[in-house]
Amino acid sequence: MPSEVQAISPLVERLMLLIEGSQCAPGEEFGVELALREALGNAVVHGSHQHPHAKVHVRCRCWPGREISIVVTDEGNGFDFEKTAGDSALSDPLSAHGRGIQLMKANMDIVHFERGGSEVHLRKRLRMMSRS
Ligand SMILES: Nc1ncnc2c1ncn2[C@@H]1O[C@H](COP(=O)(O)OP(=O)(O)OP(=O)(O)O)[C@@H](O)[C@H]1O
Ligand SMILES: [Mg+2]
Repeated sequence: MPSEVQAISPLVERLMLLIEGSQCAPGEEFGVELALREALGNAVVHGSHQHPHAKVHVRCRCWPGREISIVVTDEGNGFDFEKTAGDSALSDPLSAHGRGIQLMKANMDIVHFERGGSEVHLRKRLRMMSRS
């Protein structure tokens, strides 16, 4: 998608329809959507600095009934994610910024960074639920 803030919602809506349809995260869609929005926001704002020709790449893999995995890659220089992730515990919970990565971690089972921080991997496994 183009690296523009206004491109985020249309992409999230399209992807969430596919995710809901494929049943790879039943009951977990809200948390997956939150994490996806934060990852795309970071890619657009911090990664590509909203450069008009930059692109943000999104890959999504679904294992229906088992697992969902989303990878968001930007064309920026990355960041010191170990330092930033470590600092999150100390950050002000009431501050308006610095919550994106925490939100991703709260809603997904695995959040890890590759390519020096310009690629974030999000993964969520389904809990076994007994259904009546
Ligand atoms: N894709 C990225 N490229 C470069 N830097 C990034 C990227 N993602 C995150 N960062 C850095 O990590 C910091 C923390 O990200 P986080 O999403 O937790 O907070 P935020 O984006 O600053 O604020 P919020 O998401 O709450 O509006 C960012 O301020 C930025 O410096
Ligand atoms: Mg953010």
